[in-house]
Amino acid sequence: MTTMESLIGLVNRIQRACTALGDYGGGDQAFSSLWDALPSVAVVGGQSSGKSSVLESIVGRDFLPRGSGIVTRRPLVLQLHKTEEGQQEYAEFGHMQRRRFSDFALVRKEISDETERITGKTKQISPVPIHLSIYSPNVVNLTLIDLPGLTKVAVEGQPESIVQDIENMVRSYVEKPNCIILAISPANQDIATSDAIKLAREVDPTGERTFGVLTKLDLMDKGTNALDVLEGRSYRLQHPWVGIVNRSQADINKNVDMIVARRKEREYFATSPDYGHLTSKMGSEYLAKLLSRHLESVIRARIPSITSLINKSIDELESEMDHLGRPIAVDAGAQLYTILELCRAFDRIFKEHLEGGRPGGDR
Ligand code: GDP
Ligand code: NA
Ligand code: MG
Repeated sequence: MTTMESLIGLVNRIQRACTALGDYGGGDQAFSSLWDALPSVAVVGGQSSGKSSVLESIVGRDFLPRGSGIVTRRPLVLQLHKTEEGQQEYAEFGHMQRRRFSDFALVRKEISDETERITGKTKQISPVPIHLSIYSPNVVNLTLIDLPGLTKVAVEGQPESIVQDIENMVRSYVEKPNCIILAISPANQDIATSDAIKLAREVDPTGERTFGVLTKLDLMDKGTNALDVLEGRSYRLQHPWVGIVNRSQADINKNVDMIVARRKEREYFATSPDYGHLTSKMGSEYLAKLLSRHLESVIRARIPSITSLINKSIDELESEMDHLGRPIAVDAGAQLYTILELCRAFDRIFKEHLEGGRPGGDR
């Protein structure tokens, strides 16, 4: 792994340990500011615009509940951890840390079950996040957040306040200056009506942390295309727009797998009379690369402030460990120790990197 990859990997693991500590009632100021210093990627968009599908494609695994109507009803904080080549892929939930899932169909089922544990089998939502980590040689180190879709009206079984509740929940994630926004709009609706762009523009007026993603290109009316959007003429963002073709509901019902879906997506662009010239800059795989490159540059720019936060945390952790003579919760003590170790590792690798003389120059 490059230095940058290992630094991002460590940042990822520190975030996860901080989250776990939060569950034990710890998580004081130093840790929450450390968490906030680290970038994450959140999806924003109208209901059924394809948010969960896009996240799945970025991960390259089938594991999220998807479908029409309100499927995602709690935030899902998804951490991807890149492991060494040849390692077995597995997933682990924050609420169930001792169980390793290698069957991703069971991961999907557990997300649904855990959603229902708080909200019941309803159309209600809850702001309490589900934490999921995926360990795999095939992912890039990223924290992704899946969110309920923005809606316009409450449907049967939902309180009137749901429209505003969802918006507030989504906003609480995307208003953080370190949140990278994946603004998802379906190509078969006019971009001027996009909920994603509307909210993204409010919280990120300069567009520096917004990535415009156009889904459902395959569902546009015959004789129309999305070139005005994809080429930035309809709504200009600082980052290029990425067009996507996810699996249709029929594909999902037929269990079309990820590999096949990705191949079909590539073929769609390669053979498209409209988008042929954009092939190399379209599709889920390209989006994943674009995001990880961006995340890298963001982390690179933030490393000095992350390092100083980490050094501050090391001091606080050490004094906290000193006071933890007879720990109230053994697990909390172990988590503190883990965070301390990770912070030290980060600090060490970062310093070695600087002494190597080429800060950030390993690519
Ligand atoms: P979310 O509610 O925004 O998370 O959207 P989902 O990912 O759950 O997708 C909603 C529905 O739209 C599902 O039935 C998907 O199969 C379908 N869908 C999403 N993206 C596309 C796409 O690019 N093309 C087609 N044909 N269907 C899509
Ligand atoms: Na949906
Ligand atoms: Mg969803």
